[in-house]
Amino acid sequence: MRFTGLSFREPRGISFRYRLEGYDTEWHEAGTRRSAFYTNLPPGNFQFRVEARTGGLLSEFTTGGNPMLAQMSFELVPRWFERRSMRIAGIILLLVLAAIAPLVIRQRYHHRGLQLEAQVRERTRELRDANEKQIRANMALQDSNLRLAEQVEERLAAERALQTSNTDLLALNHKLEDAQNQLIQSEKLASIGQLAAGVAHEINNPIAYVGSNLRTLQRYAAQLLAAMEALTAELTRGSNAETYAELKQIRAHFDVDALAADLPELVDESREGIERVAKIVRDLRDFSRIDRDNAWVVADVHRGLESTLNIVASELKFKARIVKNFGELPPIKCLPSELNQVFMNVLMNAGQAIKERGVITVDTGRSADKIWVSISDDGEGIPADVLPRIFDPFYTTKPVGSGTGLGLSISYGIVLKHGGTIEAASVLGEGTSMRVELPIEQPA
Ligand SMILES: Nc1ncnc2c1ncn2[C@@H]1O[C@H](COP(=O)(O)OP(=O)(O)OP(=O)(O)O)[C@@H](O)[C@H]1O
Ligand SMILES: [Mg+2]
Repeated sequence: MRFTGLSFREPRGISFRYRLEGYDTEWHEAGTRRSAFYTNLPPGNFQFRVEARTGGLLSEFTTGGNPMLAQMSFELVPRWFERRSMRIAGIILLLVLAAIAPLVIRQRYHHRGLQLEAQVRERTRELRDANEKQIRANMALQDSNLRLAEQVEERLAAERALQTSNTDLLALNHKLEDAQNQLIQSEKLASIGQLAAGVAHEINNPIAYVGSNLRTLQRYAAQLLAAMEALTAELTRGSNAETYAELKQIRAHFDVDALAADLPELVDESREGIERVAKIVRDLRDFSRIDRDNAWVVADVHRGLESTLNIVASELKFKARIVKNFGELPPIKCLPSELNQVFMNVLMNAGQAIKERGVITVDTGRSADKIWVSISDDGEGIPADVLPRIFDPFYTTKPVGSGTGLGLSISYGIVLKHGGTIEAASVLGEGTSMRVELPIEQPA
């Protein structure tokens, strides 16, 4: 608010004081300043008064000649929100707001709830989707697992098939090995047989006629000697002393008496010799049995053993004495020439195991439906680590060139073919015993 005062004496020395009645409680001295500032006045009726003075501090403030000019009244109307009606309206509004706030809040919460529900639904749907995806992935995983299991199963089956074919191959290999052994054996047999057959054939005929001639010779010699004796008697009876002396001299000269005594003995010995040769030939033929085809027959094992012993006798006789303890054996169904091959292999091994001189014992016997042949020697014996291998093909401890290592493996095959067993027992340094067991009958 601006104000002014008028003085002719001291126009610039007027000092003022003012007071806003209704607001100020005291006068404010403004000095020569001619304005007053009020801010934030409350609404209401106010009267602004101004007094002035001149002439220093001791003079009095006055309103001059016209006090009405030194005052001004005014009313400050309240602002719209300061009005009572407005306040009441505000309170009512607050009350209304307070009343509707829970509704609004509830509404909001309801809305929020709906939103949340929608969110939950959305989230649930997402989760369900994710779950379904997971299930699908799981199913795919299960599928691939199944496929994997199938593949593994296929692999295993393939492996099993491989193993089976491997086993088959092994079996085939064994069969081949057997066939090879049999081939070697039959070749061995065939060559021995051929040799024996050839020798037997060549020797048999001359032996036959030498034997028969010897028998004739024996007869002829006996006749001749008888004739000579008759002639001598006849001549002696009718002759003189001179003729008798001459006759005696001739007889002495030709040693007729000694001849007469020796001749039958000589022929006897020759016949015995030729019979022995014939027996050897028979043994050879028996051993090789080349005269019969290789068929299963019922045969006497002792006969086979005897002929084999005779065949190997030449090999053994300087080294070993043969002791035979033969029991009672029934004839058995067998392949005789092959069994002879077994006996020969075992007997040869026994002979080879004896370094200087020894004994080979051949025992035979019967137990229930089997017969057994045991051939023992008192030779060098077999070391424990060698024993399990002696039936292996080509296993030999003999020097290169002297053993093929096939004797026992071939024998094993032959005995197996007969449904029998062949076993070795040995004590190193004391000797070896080989026992062959054979069934009497063969399955039909
Ligand atoms: N009576 C035995 N005494 C000691 N060792 C034996 C006897 N019988 C067999 N053996 C051992 O068994 C091995 C195998 O015998 P096998 O008859 O199979 O072959 P080999 O005699 O060595 O050769 P091959 O018989 O083919 O001439 C022999 O090398 C030997 O070491
Ligand atoms: Mg041998």
